[in-house]
Amino acid sequence: MLSNLKKKISDLTGLKEFLVCGLILFIVLNLFLSISDYSSVYILLFIFWVILFIAVQRKIAKNISLIKKVIKNIREKKYTVSSEIELKNNYNGIETEIRLMFDRIKEDIDYLKKLEKMRTEFLGNVSHELRTPIFAIQGYIETLLNGALNDQKVNTYFLEKADFHTQNLNSLLNDLIDISMIETGEMRLSFRYFKLSEYLKAIWEEFKPMAEEKNLQLILAPVRENLDVFGDKAKLKQVFSNLIQNAIKYTETGQIEIIVEEAVKGSVKISIKDTGLGIPEEDLDRIFERFYRVDKNRSRAVGGTGLGLAIVKHILEAHNSKIQVKSVLDEGSEFYFSLKK
Ligand SMILES: Nc1ncnc2c1ncn2[C@@H]1O[C@H](COP(=O)(O)OP(=O)(O)O)[C@@H](O)[C@H]1O
Ligand SMILES: [Mg+2]
Repeated sequence: MLSNLKKKISDLTGLKEFLVCGLILFIVLNLFLSISDYSSVYILLFIFWVILFIAVQRKIAKNISLIKKVIKNIREKKYTVSSEIELKNNYNGIETEIRLMFDRIKEDIDYLKKLEKMRTEFLGNVSHELRTPIFAIQGYIETLLNGALNDQKVNTYFLEKADFHTQNLNSLLNDLIDISMIETGEMRLSFRYFKLSEYLKAIWEEFKPMAEEKNLQLILAPVRENLDVFGDKAKLKQVFSNLIQNAIKYTETGQIEIIVEEAVKGSVKISIKDTGLGIPEEDLDRIFERFYRVDKNRSRAVGGTGLGLAIVKHILEAHNSKIQVKSVLDEGSEFYFSLKK
């Protein structure tokens, strides 16, 4: 865009060069012919040329000073929208070019401002999230030191509480490391085909006790034995862990089902469906944002960091897939995505 503008301005200075060349040619011609009878006609023509040259020069100078003024106004932030930028008759398309350049720079600045705002918000959230478990741990340790240590009725309980918050702190740090690796592009994925059935069975076995502890049933619906899917096993494990742990955390009674469907050619749909609390419609779009929780206190009480779904979203995007959700409040939620088979 800038080079376009430069070209247009140099077109104008090119006109000036043309006039100067004409003038030199004219003087040379005059020198040769000044001896002839036509010399007075040539002198008149010369004067006419000089006047024309000065007139064109002045017009160009006027327009260039107008362009200079517009550029100065942009520098001094006098315009808010590009339509305020005006040059007489668009002046050789320069007005359009300046307006386009203005819009582009404005877009870049707006984007940088948005990034800066997100960064500040993120830092604020991180500090807040770190403070919560640290304050709790500090509180329990102080209470213990102030005498509770010798009180057999509460000492173990306080230590368990402090331990719970230490684990939360650890999960938060791990999630933060993941997010930062994703954002700096350091998350390396290694894609290969693997047997979905065995893979899901191992995950099911790992999380079954956690579900049973809450009297929930974790069901793995039948998966075709030889079904191979394409992806990064370790990263997908994080996706399943987050989704299944959420389902367990936000379900009080009923069951959690892992369902695999092969309806669409070339891909496999995997769903994690629960009979839990459900998510209000207005929150559905936002739960994948970093630190967004429907109920902050509840999430913290069950050891949530608010980063799980943001990580899930990123990992699935790296698989050219997308996490989707359907949910009805007080009835349950279904999170699903596709993988290449
Ligand atoms: N299966 C689910 N049922 C109900 N709500 C859920 C479920 N999964 C996620 N959520 C909501 O989405 C929020 C964001 O989830 P996530 O990013 O995993 O953070 P958290 O650490 O709080 O679990 C949760 O705080 C919860 O409010
Ligand atoms: Mg979670």
